[in-house]
Amino acid sequence: MAGVPQPQVNLIPGCPRHVAIIMDGNGRWATQRGRPRLYGHHAGARRVREIVESCPQIGVEYLTIFAFSTENWKRTQVEVAGLMTLFRRYIVKETRALITSGVRVRFIGDRLRLDDKLIALMNDLETATAQNTLVHLTIALNYGGRDEVARATKRLAGDVAEGRLHPDDVDEETLPRYLDTHVLPDPDLVIRTSGEARISNFLLWQSAYSEYEFIDTLWPDFTSDEFKNLCAAFGGRDRRYGGVLG
Ligand code: IPE
Ligand code: IPE
Ligand code: MG
Repeated sequence: MAGVPQPQVNLIPGCPRHVAIIMDGNGRWATQRGRPRLYGHHAGARRVREIVESCPQIGVEYLTIFAFSTENWKRTQVEVAGLMTLFRRYIVKETRALITSGVRVRFIGDRLRLDDKLIALMNDLETATAQNTLVHLTIALNYGGRDEVARATKRLAGDVAEGRLHPDDVDEETLPRYLDTHVLPDPDLVIRTSGEARISNFLLWQSAYSEYEFIDTLWPDFTSDEFKNLCAAFGGRDRRYGGVLG
């Protein structure tokens, strides 16, 4: 089909279908250079395009990136405001490239605390890319795994109270239908940059059986080559899901 972006053919065998990334280390990257933390956030934002665009070449269909957590509001007002401005600019600047490279964008997280201008840009980007299918990019913005489960439970309890759901019918299949990620498969591989070996409230429910890679690279230094290598290493992992080697 003319004009519709197609995947390249050098796919990695056993490539993870869904990769989630905790993009950490922007602040330290900037500090190492004697610059303010926001300088690192700008450098980090510039890394995203290369990683997204490498997905179809290697066979990753879903990429979920952690941009701002429900706990990140604890940072200084200057840093938070700078990040919010960066998110607005990022959306404006990247919209065209995302549309033409076949990327469907979704946002997860609680939008209510974000400012109206940003929310409008997020909605517009989701709409503008809604027909794309080559890569599914999900941006976690004001996202926290506990917050997501609490919001999901609230909606689920509402359905029980209104008689749309019976408590006996609540099981492992029911709750995820209320999560922000309800249209996404669970992540196969979760990568965290910057050397921290924790998940910091990211995709708590969804990553129950994900494989993890904690790497020392700071996010602004992360390249598509390193991404490809991590995806290739994933192909050699043995996922047992509680069963036996087989
Ligand atoms: C990750 O980088 C980006 C956000 C959390 C918004 P950090 O800002 O956490 O960078 P470090 O961990 O302080 O180096
Ligand atoms: C996790 O990084 C959140 C994002 C990458 C957006 P943090 O830097 O906020 O996590 P902690 O504070 O080190 O746990
Ligand atoms: Mg950090």
